[in-house]
Amino acid sequence: MRLVLKDIGRLVTLAEFGEGPARGPLAELAAVDHAFLIAEDGRVAFAGPMSRYRREWERGAATVLSLGDMLVTPGLVDAHTHLVFAGWRADEFALRLRGVGYRQILAAGGGIHRTVAATRAAGEEELFTLGLARLDQMLRRGVTTVESKSGYGLDLETELKQLRVNRRLDREHPVDVVSTYLGAHVVPAEHREDPEAYVRFMLDTVQPAVRREGLAEFCDVFCEEGAFDREQTRRLLRKAAALGFGLKLHADELHAGRGAELAVELGATSADHLLCVSETGMKVLAASSTVAVLLPGTAFFLGADSAPGRRLIDEGAAVALATDFNPGSCPLLDLRMTMTMACLKMRLTPAEALVACTLNAAHAVGRADRAGSLREGKPADLVVWDCPDWTHLPYRMGEDLVHAVFKAGRMVYRSDRVGPQSCASGRT
Ligand code: NIG
Ligand code: FE
Repeated sequence: MRLVLKDIGRLVTLAEFGEGPARGPLAELAAVDHAFLIAEDGRVAFAGPMSRYRREWERGAATVLSLGDMLVTPGLVDAHTHLVFAGWRADEFALRLRGVGYRQILAAGGGIHRTVAATRAAGEEELFTLGLARLDQMLRRGVTTVESKSGYGLDLETELKQLRVNRRLDREHPVDVVSTYLGAHVVPAEHREDPEAYVRFMLDTVQPAVRREGLAEFCDVFCEEGAFDREQTRRLLRKAAALGFGLKLHADELHAGRGAELAVELGATSADHLLCVSETGMKVLAASSTVAVLLPGTAFFLGADSAPGRRLIDEGAAVALATDFNPGSCPLLDLRMTMTMACLKMRLTPAEALVACTLNAAHAVGRADRAGSLREGKPADLVVWDCPDWTHLPYRMGEDLVHAVFKAGRMVYRSDRVGPQSCASGRT
């Protein structure tokens, strides 16, 4: 099955970065103007300038599209979300606007605890339906791979329920779902008097059960005052690594807690948030293979100072961006808006922001072999944007710029706004 995209205004493959993540400042990206891309059986076969294009490739092709003036990039990867939950918390948003703090709400039994109650009460089918609708929204915005954490169940039954929903979403929706077990999100109310018992329960019961059923690739811990301390985090993640999970860490989000250092010590795939990362933490990250996943939407939504994205890149850390989509600290599922905030609040360049939402994000979720760039041999996960250049992605806030989305060479979304006349010789 062959896909032919021709007369592409501007093609950005990110293939120039090879197998590793991108590090260091980036003002520009390699781009081919007036380009073509061919995918065979869902994988990128070759790409280049139209001067090398041969009409005979169209013979027998399943799809041939002419994309004048449009931009093609790899599909976006959202490397950190809390996708599967029931119930919103708009009333808490209103409370925060009146000056009540996020942690104050949590300490009073609201916040994450409320979403836990609603998610425990929800049926698996209901959570699946909610997840599908959210994935549709992400896909329409150019996302082709998303990481999804549990952590709104906390008890065995509900954690497994959330993770089974992840698995079903992965199988039944075109977007790939990378599943993460985040039992260590907060100590559940029933263990309030004895948090240590909850840690043992995760170590002895839940982690092995999740592993046995193959329900998560990663294990994550919210390492934070009022959640889990360094010692608990270390025990939880060491055991997780021994069981075969990849590791993630909510690190230095609300307080400086040397979370970045701990993530690197444990060999974590990513350290996420990093609003309060220390000077040493930045250097340690830069010298490691741990990806710094930054979530500017959360800082914005909590009214906090952003993570030092510019500094992290200049130091040489591999930086990714993600939405952190969740009902409390960041109900945002738009990665392009995340790019805008990263440029304005963290002083990333548009080129750095795009790389952070594609190639580096794929590294942050252990999918660099399958996502994040359009290297030959990788799945043709790509977005056709109705704009001439990647600078438009963070620049044109809130506008719907997605013309079409392809997953493994198959068109899985096409904007209603733009009729077939824009895909001149469209045969789909
Ligand atoms: O990433 N840090 C913890 N978890 C989420 C917030 C979850 C919630 O408020 O429901 C976060 O910010
Ligand atoms: Fe989070």
